[in-house]
Amino acid sequence: MLDAQSAAAAPPVIRREDYRKPDWLMPDVHLEFRLDPARTQVAGRLKVTRNGAHGRPLRLNGDGLTPLAVLIDGEPQADAWRMDGPDLLIDLPGDAHVVETRVEISPEANSQLMGLYASGGNLCTQCEPEGFRRMIFFIDRPDVLSRYTVRMEADKTRFPVLLSNGDRTASGDLDGGRHFAEWTDPFPKPSYLFALVAADLAANVDSFTTKSGRPVKLAIWVVEKDLPKTEHAMAALKASMAWDEKVYGREYDLGEFNIVAVADFNFGAMENKSLNIFNSRYILADPETATDIDYDGVSGVVAHEYFHNWSGNRVTCRDWFQLSLKEGFTVFRDQSFTADQGSAAVKRIEDVRLLRAAQFPEDAGPLAHPIRPESYMEVSNFYTATVYNKGAEIIRMLHTMLGPQKFRAGCDLYFARHDGTAATCEDFVVAMEDASGVDLTRFRLWYSQAGTPRVRAALSHEPAGARALLTLEQTVPPTPGQPEKQPMPIPLRIALFGERSGRAFEEERLVVLEDERCEILFEGIAERPVLSINRGFSAPVIIDSDRSAADLAFLSAHDDDPFARYEAMQQLMVDTLVGAVSTGQADHGPVIEAVRNTLTDPKLDSAFIGETMLLPSEAFIGDQMAVVDPVAIHRAREALRRDLGGQLEGEWRDAYERSRANRFELSPQAKGARRLRTIALGFIMASGAEDAAGIALRQFEEADNMTDRQGAFGVLANSLAPERDVAIAAFYDRFRDNGLVLDKWFSTQAFSIRPDTLDRVEELSRHPDFTLANPNRLRSLVGAMSGNQLVFHEAGGRGYRFLADMLLKVDGLNPQTAAKLVPPLGRWRRFDEGRAALMKAELQRMLDTPGLSKDVFEQVSKSLA
Ligand code: TRP
Ligand code: ZN
Repeated sequence: MLDAQSAAAAPPVIRREDYRKPDWLMPDVHLEFRLDPARTQVAGRLKVTRNGAHGRPLRLNGDGLTPLAVLIDGEPQADAWRMDGPDLLIDLPGDAHVVETRVEISPEANSQLMGLYASGGNLCTQCEPEGFRRMIFFIDRPDVLSRYTVRMEADKTRFPVLLSNGDRTASGDLDGGRHFAEWTDPFPKPSYLFALVAADLAANVDSFTTKSGRPVKLAIWVVEKDLPKTEHAMAALKASMAWDEKVYGREYDLGEFNIVAVADFNFGAMENKSLNIFNSRYILADPETATDIDYDGVSGVVAHEYFHNWSGNRVTCRDWFQLSLKEGFTVFRDQSFTADQGSAAVKRIEDVRLLRAAQFPEDAGPLAHPIRPESYMEVSNFYTATVYNKGAEIIRMLHTMLGPQKFRAGCDLYFARHDGTAATCEDFVVAMEDASGVDLTRFRLWYSQAGTPRVRAALSHEPAGARALLTLEQTVPPTPGQPEKQPMPIPLRIALFGERSGRAFEEERLVVLEDERCEILFEGIAERPVLSINRGFSAPVIIDSDRSAADLAFLSAHDDDPFARYEAMQQLMVDTLVGAVSTGQADHGPVIEAVRNTLTDPKLDSAFIGETMLLPSEAFIGDQMAVVDPVAIHRAREALRRDLGGQLEGEWRDAYERSRANRFELSPQAKGARRLRTIALGFIMASGAEDAAGIALRQFEEADNMTDRQGAFGVLANSLAPERDVAIAAFYDRFRDNGLVLDKWFSTQAFSIRPDTLDRVEELSRHPDFTLANPNRLRSLVGAMSGNQLVFHEAGGRGYRFLADMLLKVDGLNPQTAAKLVPPLGRWRRFDEGRAALMKAELQRMLDTPGLSKDVFEQVSKSLA
């Protein structure tokens, strides 16, 4: 049953300021599951205690449940309880009671993938944020922590593996081919961290010994044939465990750590205590089926979920408004881990690219919210790039401003103070203040104010006095519900370079722009200085500076901060492209020269060169403009690609040959070479060379790894050459039985810039391998199409209609996943009147649809406002 919402009645709004401590606590919980895909019986025995002096009843949350029995202290009750909407209310006379309830649920009918559901014939749970209440009546809020014992019973042949949190304390056979297992978790936890799995899976088993000598059994559970694809995830898990000990002093705390991979999952993965459940795309990897990006996704998500054991589980969140307390911090931790494992510069570039692609538009649109939101209708809508990725940037700024030692001391204090409890973002900031002695009063604004700040930077030089003056001015834009903003402390790493000497004048400075405006004086600046600012992307802001194409080209060649070098090239490309779109005139010369310099610089590694050569996406160019013209942007960008391809054709061919690896290897060098290789292929193709499609098809056919094959496939998918059809058919034939690779087959076609892409997408939506029920597959077609600016915004609104149609269908099955597809339509304010009207019409059509979920209702109504 869906929690249906009529279009007329808006769902209630939950506000952060309304937080009240729980009326009842629940120190001990015993759960029993008689598992069966069609009919599972669930019984809960909850020890509850009154929290404070009050006469309020016990409210147990439910979602679509019918109580089959209610017992108080062992006595069946007929009228001591009543339903209040989906919840069960029980009047309790004393201050401590044992409450028991029983319900029946159907995992195989659960298409929302929240609560207990079936995936690939196995049973698993997803409880964060409010899925637990779909299994049994419960106090389903993160500030109520309980000790759990769990008994599971199931058919032994069908479900030989029975897992839950903590340690297995009993198991055995039962009559009728059934068996049972009991699990006990010694750590108190909120309901959202509960998990169970009943499955027919095999494990890659390994071990890790913690620094204090505790042996931990590690197991990654997958379908048997996938076992060889779990090595990378296992290596990442062990590396994460060692890293958290070394960098944060955090040790694992149980004898067992299980990971289960499932094919149907609403998100990336889930950090349930000692029983992480993963979207299989973040576990399975081998050279034949996974790209280098997929490999990195596996290690990043494995690390993220493992790190939650401390930042999330040992210290959890008081309420869902504090979500960034665990998510922002944990993303920062996984980013730092990945940076330490490989190239920190390339990792930073990738993280910033993601922030700009996903979070900046969110912060500039109708769904903008601070990393600690003030209100929501449906909390699932707040698992956003803002809470996660901007949240991570805010933790990173603390790290930058306090320095690594004080930051670590703050973390230690935070963990020591709040271990075993549910904390707030404020608690984290207070721990940082107390450990460092730094006053973070104004820094707290980063938690409460939405919107990406802009910093204007103007540098003037006075040659006579050998001085330079840098003026910085910040503005924080208005966002929905926040018309007025205050200036925030913005940490900016800054350096000046001599235009002629190419050398830095002094050590890099960390300037914290505290107020609206500040001036910084540099002395001993004899030659004209060039400004390098926000180096390493020290603050999540937009810099407006009047640096010329020549200055940017200079920095792209001379800056000693790799991120700043990349950034200068990007800015040069963006300026060139925005100029071309607005004037219709393009001067590609400076970009071509800067690209030539970087491409042929023997001191640079391939991975960095590859990152730097990537042109800004069409969407990012659009973000720089008052009114997005998708066709003009596409034309301008393709013209630059053609010129870069043609004028540097020899260099691209050299780079292509140079980075031709003959055997697959996962080293950073080999990964960099593969990256550069496909980028070079794209430019050779853009040059219009006659042999280009043939080179691409050869790479596609001869590849011994998915990175090269998928790279060539992507290049061919954009082309009108006949080789494209050959590749589409061959890719399908080779991988038709592998769901994760088929996702690539769908998404690559949906990302194509060919003029017939929408026709093809519509056709693919009727393909037998397409299904709305699997979130990965849905995103691979519908999500990819709506991220393809040229295609989604095709004049006439066909892309908008397609998205809205799909979304309405998905909403009936899986509202959480449907709601995540809404934001592209909410960007209507940024487009011309014609497109804006068409986009609004689709949003309105959805809003007028009866029975809309509150998830989609919230996204759509806010997008129209
Ligand atoms: N807490 C998970 C993480 O590591 C996110 C998550 C997993 C999630 N499944 C979910 C969020 C379902 C919402 C709904 O980031
Ligand atoms: Zn997380």
